[in-house]
Amino acid sequence: MDKLRVGVIGVGGRGTLSNNWLHSKRAVIVGGADVSEKQLAGFRERVGENVFTTTDYRELLDRGGIDAIMVTSPDFVHEEHALAAISAGKHVYLEKPMAITIDGCDRIINAQKSAGVKLMVGFNMRCMPMFRMMKGIVDSGTIGEVKAVWVRHFVGYGSQFYYHDWHGNRANTTSLLLQKGSHDIDIIHWISGGYTKRVAAFGDLDFFGGDKPNDLRCPECDENSTCTEAVLAGLTQCAYRKEIDVEDNNVMIMRLDNGVKASYLQCHFTPDYHRNYVFIGTEGRMENSEPEGKVWVKTRRANTWRDYSDQTYEMKPITGDHGGADPVITDMFLDMVLDGKDPVATAVDGRMSVAAGVCGAESMRNGGMPVDVPAVSLK
Ligand SMILES: NC(=O)c1ccc[n+]([C@@H]2O[C@H](COP(=O)([O-])OP(=O)(O)OC[C@H]3O[C@@H](n4cnc5c(N)ncnc54)[C@H](O)[C@@H]3O)[C@@H](O)[C@H]2O)c1
Repeated sequence: MDKLRVGVIGVGGRGTLSNNWLHSKRAVIVGGADVSEKQLAGFRERVGENVFTTTDYRELLDRGGIDAIMVTSPDFVHEEHALAAISAGKHVYLEKPMAITIDGCDRIINAQKSAGVKLMVGFNMRCMPMFRMMKGIVDSGTIGEVKAVWVRHFVGYGSQFYYHDWHGNRANTTSLLLQKGSHDIDIIHWISGGYTKRVAAFGDLDFFGGDKPNDLRCPECDENSTCTEAVLAGLTQCAYRKEIDVEDNNVMIMRLDNGVKASYLQCHFTPDYHRNYVFIGTEGRMENSEPEGKVWVKTRRANTWRDYSDQTYEMKPITGDHGGADPVITDMFLDMVLDGKDPVATAVDGRMSVAAGVCGAESMRNGGMPVDVPAVSLK
């Protein structure tokens, strides 16, 4: 196979990631499924009027002539869509979080194993130049053996991202610790070289949610000229509506299976957007600043040439969505299926970050008691 024939489930929103294959020599988009006719119309406009579209994803899977499926539907249907695609014998690109339960992730892992298809989890942060570089610095041994990690995720667009639509409900996401947090937890795992085995967490809903009616929309709201979260087009459900029940700030401590200790803070009402990562090793400390596009590496006395200076890395300008990551990850998917390369993130990587987030949510909803992350349940 030299050209991959891809179908997309969930063609709007994140489904536009498939645009990276529109002019590819190695992939062709052959169909799309979505519950929204409006999104399907947009998909036909982008891909071509003759592309197959359906509101029933099973019709897409039943068609011949499709090698792989990109699952870019909301979190709560990832498991259903991934399992169906796998059982139809398709290779799968599966957006993060892999599923919203640990058991759901394990079912996907087992199904993939028995079907023998390839699956990659959409951890595009692994493809962001800044985090690839930080991984390279740690792998080079410059800061020695990583022992402690501190991550703060200031989600400055919390309401736009999470509180104006389905993301605000536990039933749809379980917790933002695994929705938004699955990326950060995965980067902690990836760079530190271990998976979380025990967590404890605290978290609250301090800013969003409230007593506004569930059907209130910003354009019809009397307070939309003064409300700091008002959005007049696009996702307009009130960010202060009653049904919202996912915490908007969380602090989680984690122990990894290689002894690394990590601390993770996620807050959805900060004025700025920034993922600040600190890795401390036996020979140094590395920290990034996304707004400044810099990574600092400070070395401690190690009786090597590194004693003589600290280093500041300045990121070069990058093009492409998500800090240049999206065109890289879609290429990597083709490399995996067509050339047999390893996926940038495996199903187990996806599962372990979901598992840490699910256990963190369990802990914070039960007084912060430590929770052990279960091992993958292989059939
Ligand atoms: N890796 C990243 O950088 C990144 C960025 C954004 C979103 N995501 C992930 O992508 C997924 C989609 O997020 P989004 O913000 O695009 O969501 P969204 O609400 O915009 O939905 C995406 C599309 O799926 C469709 N859809 C909804 N329910 C469906 C169903 N039952 N069957 C088929 N299609 C359905 C919607 O109509 C829409 O076209 C989420 O899991 C999210 O975590 C990842």
